[in-house]
Amino acid sequence: MLIAALLVCAAGTVDASARTDYLLHCAGCHLPQGKGVPPEVPTLVGSLGRIAASEEGRDYIARVPGASQAPITDAQLAAVLNWVLLEFNSETLPESFRPLTAREVGKSRSRVLSDPLKMRRTLWPDSAEY
Ligand code: HEC
Repeated sequence: MLIAALLVCAAGTVDASARTDYLLHCAGCHLPQGKGVPPEVPTLVGSLGRIAASEEGRDYIARVPGASQAPITDAQLAAVLNWVLLEFNSETLPESFRPLTAREVGKSRSRVLSDPLKMRRTLWPDSAEY
């Protein structure tokens, strides 16, 4: 966790504004503590570490409509997603986790998912649904 936090700082992608952006653009649905309103709105707590461990998962979390269509820049979205991963998923995030970059998030979010649940079921058939 500490190492991941240091990496994020080194990459310059996280700061207090990531939390503010989360509260402004995500918390309306996912709630300030990230717990969501299952089954309509999934929790962002604990469930994303495993997903973010793969390239497909890194791509997926930037493509879900709520994230990809938020009115913020690629760098801001990368910072928000990194903040969500470190703040709410430190228990499940692999030690090898590298923070998302603005460039990779930009590439992913340009391909908004029309059916996020379908992709989730295909990629992680054994993972709990939200
Ligand atoms: C209008 C409500 C809404 C907003 C705002 C919103 N989301 Fe979501 N989010 C959802 C819903 C609903 C889903 C389930 C997939 C779907 O139907 O889009 C979801 C899914 C997700 C997932 C995938 C979770 C999983 O376990 O598969 C992530 C990650 C996510 N959102 C992150 C964010 C982030 C980051 C923001 C802010 C930039 C955000 N969301 C804003 C409603 C929202």
